[in-house]
Amino acid sequence: MPIFTNATGWILATTSTAYALGLNDAGVLTHCYWGPRLPALADYPPPPSPDGWSSFNPPAQLTPEEYPGYTGNTFVEPCLKVTFADGVRNVVLGYVGATVESEPLPTLAITLEDGFYPLRVTLLYRLYEAYDLLERAVRIENLGTEPMLIERIWSALWHLPQHGRYRLRHMVGRHMDEGILRHEPLSEGVKRLESRRLASSHHHSPWFAVDRDPDADLGQGADECGGEVWFGALAWSGNWQIAAEVTDFGSTRIGIGLNDWDFAWRLDPGEAFTTPVSYAGYTAAGFGAMSRCWHTFIREVILPGERQVQKVFYNSWEATHFDVDEASQVHLAEIAASLGIEVFVLDDGWFAGRNDDTAALGDWRPDPHKFPHGLTPLIRRVHELGMAFGLWIEPEMVSPKSELYRTHPDWVLHFATRARTESRHQLILNLARPDVQDYLIAQFDRLLTEHPIDFIKWDMNRNISEPGWHDAPGEPREVWVRYIEGLYRVWGALRERHPQIVWQNCSGGGGRVDLGLMRLADQFQLSDNIDPTRFLAMQEGFSQIFPANTMHAWVADLPASHLSLRFRFHVGMCGILGLGGHLARWTAEERAEAAALIAQYKTIRPIVQFGELYRLRSPQRHAFAAVLYVAPDRSEAVLFAFRTHLPAQTRLPPLRLQGLDPQRHYTIEGQPEVRSGAAWMHLGLDLHLGDFASCVLLVRQV
Ligand code: GLA
Repeated sequence: MPIFTNATGWILATTSTAYALGLNDAGVLTHCYWGPRLPALADYPPPPSPDGWSSFNPPAQLTPEEYPGYTGNTFVEPCLKVTFADGVRNVVLGYVGATVESEPLPTLAITLEDGFYPLRVTLLYRLYEAYDLLERAVRIENLGTEPMLIERIWSALWHLPQHGRYRLRHMVGRHMDEGILRHEPLSEGVKRLESRRLASSHHHSPWFAVDRDPDADLGQGADECGGEVWFGALAWSGNWQIAAEVTDFGSTRIGIGLNDWDFAWRLDPGEAFTTPVSYAGYTAAGFGAMSRCWHTFIREVILPGERQVQKVFYNSWEATHFDVDEASQVHLAEIAASLGIEVFVLDDGWFAGRNDDTAALGDWRPDPHKFPHGLTPLIRRVHELGMAFGLWIEPEMVSPKSELYRTHPDWVLHFATRARTESRHQLILNLARPDVQDYLIAQFDRLLTEHPIDFIKWDMNRNISEPGWHDAPGEPREVWVRYIEGLYRVWGALRERHPQIVWQNCSGGGGRVDLGLMRLADQFQLSDNIDPTRFLAMQEGFSQIFPANTMHAWVADLPASHLSLRFRFHVGMCGILGLGGHLARWTAEERAEAAALIAQYKTIRPIVQFGELYRLRSPQRHAFAAVLYVAPDRSEAVLFAFRTHLPAQTRLPPLRLQGLDPQRHYTIEGQPEVRSGAAWMHLGLDLHLGDFASCVLLVRQV
C-alpha cells in the first residue's frame, strides 16, 4: 500500500514521487513535501509550524495550509468560501479524521469540519502509482438544517517546495491561433489564468507546469530533457481558474478548480457537492518526461473506449462548406476511398434549411432538397467504398431561425429583460436544464439509431454572453457547473448507447480541449487554422499534455502556397492524419502522391499514435523543428523534421535524437552509418533540407 502513516501525517508515494502532508503543532493540516520519492519514511520533513513575522503577519499566514478556508488573518488565496444561513461568511476547518482504502485505487480521505456550523469537507487523494500521478478532489456536505452558499470551491492547492523561485509554463491563444506556449517567472502576487466562457477555451488551458527559475537564487530550470517540473491539470470543460500565488514569505502554491467568478452553489441540508478532479505529478526529467507521463496516463486511464488506432479521415468542410448534397459528397467519397482514406466525414450543411450559418441549428433532420432520400444512400455508398461514415453535429446550439427555437424560446441561456446576443447567428441551449438534456439525448439517439453512423464530430461554435437561467429552480449561478454536468450527461448517454462511434471534439478547433472532455471524446480538432506551419506550433503546444492519438490535423488546400503537399502531409502525419482539401480539384499527380503518403502513414502510425514523443527542436522557437516518436520497446522510431524559412546558405545543426537505447545499434533511413543509440543521441545526424522542406525517416534497430 503506497499510503504511509507516520506520527504526524501521511506520505503518498507513487513509483518515483511522493507527496506528504500532516498536522502541525497547532493542529492545522499542512503541506510537507512534494518531489522525488525518498528512501526512508523518516526522510520526509515534518509539518511546518512557522512563527509569525509581526502582528501584520501571524503564523497562520506563514503556514502552508493544505486546503485553506477563507478565514482569519491568513490573507492567502483560500480554496473554500462559504456563506452560512445567518450571513457568517468564513470557514473554520478543523481536522476530524482520515481513512485509507486500497481499492479500487489507493485513496486517502481526510475529513475536516467547521467548529460551529454543520459543514463537512472531505479532501480526497487517489494515487495512480504506476503513472506517477496523484488525483485530488473535494467533497463538501451540509449536515445541518439550513442551506449554505458555496462561493468558491477549488479542487486542490498544489504547494511547491518552500523558498524556491519558480517559472510557470502555460498555454495561450485565440480562435485560429491556439497552443502558444508561455514560460514566465512567478514573483510575489497572484498570476491568474482562467476561463469565463462556459468552455475551457482557446485562450488559456486548464493545466500548468512549473520549474525552477534559473535566474533566481535556488536551483536550475528545466528543459525538454531534464530538470524538475511540477505539473497539474483540471478535468473540467467549463469555467476554471488557476491561481499561482507567491507569498511574501517564500511560499509558492497553485490553486486549481472551478472559477468562482459569478459562481455560487446553494447546498441544501443533507446535500453534498463534489468538485471536478485535479491531477498532478512531478518529474526530475524535464518537460519531455512530463508530457510522456500525461500521454501514457491519458491513453491508458482517461480516454474512453478500447485502445484503437485512429483512422485516416476526410472531412469535406473545407471543400464544399454548406454547399453539400448527395452527388457532391458521393463524388468526394469515391476519390477519398481511392486514396486509401478510411473515414468520410460530412460536415455542416446537411440538415434541413442549413444553407449558411444563419439558420437551422436545432433541426437535426436531413435537408430534403440536398438529400431527397435522406442520408442513407450516401452512408451506404461510403460503406460500400470500404470507409466509415462520419457526421457533424452541434447539439448545444440553436439558430433563432429554427423550429426548435420557435417551439422553445425559453430553452436558451438568457436574461428575460436583455437582448439575446447572437454569435455566428446562434444561441446556446441551457444544458443545465434536465428537460433540455433529455430532449437532446432523445433527438440524437434517434439520429444515431436510424443511421449507421461510425464517427461524430461534435462542434461548439460560440462562447457565452448572457448566462441567465430562466426559471431556475434554485440558485441561478449554478448554471456554470450544471451546464457542463448536463453536457457530460448528454454526451455520456449517447456514447453509452452507441459504443461503436468514434467521437471527435471540436469547438471552432481547439476551443474546448481538456481532460474533462477527453473522457468522452476519442480525439479533438486542433484548430480551424489550416496553415501547416501554425499547425506545427500548435502541435507542440497541445502535445505538452495530449498524446498524438488524440490530435487530428488537416491537410487542406492552401491556394498559391509555397508549402508542398508532402510538407503538409508530414505535418498531418504527426498526429491523426486527416484530409480536408477539395479532392475533386486535385491533379492525378497530387492524388497519386497523397495515396502514397497515406500508405506510408499507415505503416508508421502505430509508432506515431502510441509511441513516446520526444520534441527535439521547437517549432515555436526554431525555423528548423523536429519530433521523434519512439516505439515503446525502443526498437523503432519515426523522425519528422521541418525547415521553414532560413537563409539559403544555412547549415542545419546536427539533430540529436533522444529516447533510443544507448547500447543498441540503429540505422536511420538515408544515413549510411550504423551507430549506437548513444552516438545518435550524442552526435546527432546531419540533415540537408531546403527551405520549406520536410522529411520523415525511419529509425530501426539492427
Ligand atoms: C467550426 C469547425 C469547422 C467546421 C465549421 C462548420 O468552425 O471548427 O471545422 O466544422 O464549424 O460550421
